[in-house]
Amino acid sequence: MAENIEKPANQKCRVGIIMGGLSSEKEVSLESGRNIFSRIDRSKYEPIPIFMDSRALLWEIPVKLLLRNSTRDIEEDLESEARAVPYESLKEKVDVVCLGLHGKYGEDGCMQGLLELLRIPYTGSGVLASAIGMDKHASRRILAAGGIDVPHTIPVQKKRWDSERNEITEEIVRNIGFPCVVKPSREGCSTAVKKIVSAEGLPVALENAFLWDSTALVEEFLSGTEVTCGVLGTGNPEALIPSETIATEEILSLEDKFLYGQGENKTPPRLPEKQIEKIRRTAIAAFEALKLTGYARIDMFVMPDGRVIVLECNTLPGMTPSTVLFHQAAAVGITPAGLIDRIIEYALEVHRDKKGPL
Ligand SMILES: Nc1ncnc2c1ncn2[C@@H]1O[C@H](COP(=O)(O)OP(=O)(O)O)[C@@H](O)[C@H]1O
Ligand SMILES: [Mg+2]
Repeated sequence: MAENIEKPANQKCRVGIIMGGLSSEKEVSLESGRNIFSRIDRSKYEPIPIFMDSRALLWEIPVKLLLRNSTRDIEEDLESEARAVPYESLKEKVDVVCLGLHGKYGEDGCMQGLLELLRIPYTGSGVLASAIGMDKHASRRILAAGGIDVPHTIPVQKKRWDSERNEITEEIVRNIGFPCVVKPSREGCSTAVKKIVSAEGLPVALENAFLWDSTALVEEFLSGTEVTCGVLGTGNPEALIPSETIATEEILSLEDKFLYGQGENKTPPRLPEKQIEKIRRTAIAAFEALKLTGYARIDMFVMPDGRVIVLECNTLPGMTPSTVLFHQAAAVGITPAGLIDRIIEYALEVHRDKKGPL
């Protein structure tokens, strides 16, 4: 399986930056992809923008399409302006794929599996870690088994909700209480994340979550300081400097909170040094427990009693210009081009050394 992916010294490494895709996060993905395209070190890499359309087909797109306002604007002119890249010919075009995708089919192991079959190295975590990372319930069970604090959670399958509504409601009242948070198990960008204050709010919140996944989670509401911490590396991962996610006035509108440009972050968090170190240790522990590789961003809450609870792990975190990952990297002296370079180098390293799919 191991292949020689070294290039002769005079040839630049061709990086296919894949963006767009099928998920609810495709617009963020477009921002991530073009930011990677604009920041990547061109003395070392030859970036090739590749758009994944809503049918999962790949297209090599010219810069004029890359600069369009939305994925829909790009999609309208693919036939006339872009060149289709059938999966099986991707390997002839690129030496490594830099994944700018987020969410379903891009971040959850599907794309990673395709790239494994095509034998193309790709950035971020492998098939299993990506699939588990995307599934909040699966990842919490693994984190908890590793001694890492996670929110009290009750998973609710749509089928069971349809037939045992009263029993489930009782279980939630008894074991979680209110306020609580309802969300799909596998989504992103706060899609269908809802804080509810009484049992009356459960049916609507659950039905809404079921629009996105057949399993929804009902979990304790964490009232603490929300923080997030990037982790980089392969064998011996390092935590960047974490950021505090500043709560807006409207604590109820979780959906609004993370709309682009609305969220505010502070790097480092306004917390004692000891707490910041604990956040970094917890982020590394979560990264290792889930066998993540390359890079990831771990979201956590620091509770008033000092506990650090892991909310979720983002295996392909946002790479948009305003994203905290770049601030956190800057805080340890890594430039945006340097961060992208490291992520690609890690990809080349792990895929060179792997035995079987990652
Ligand atoms: N249990 C919770 N307690 C408090 N706030 C929460 C909770 N779950 C989610 N939130 C808020 O909603 C945001 C989005 O939820 P998250 O679980 O990260 O879903 P997504 O994968 O869509 O980002 C979080 O960043 C946080 O601000
Ligand atoms: Mg999140």
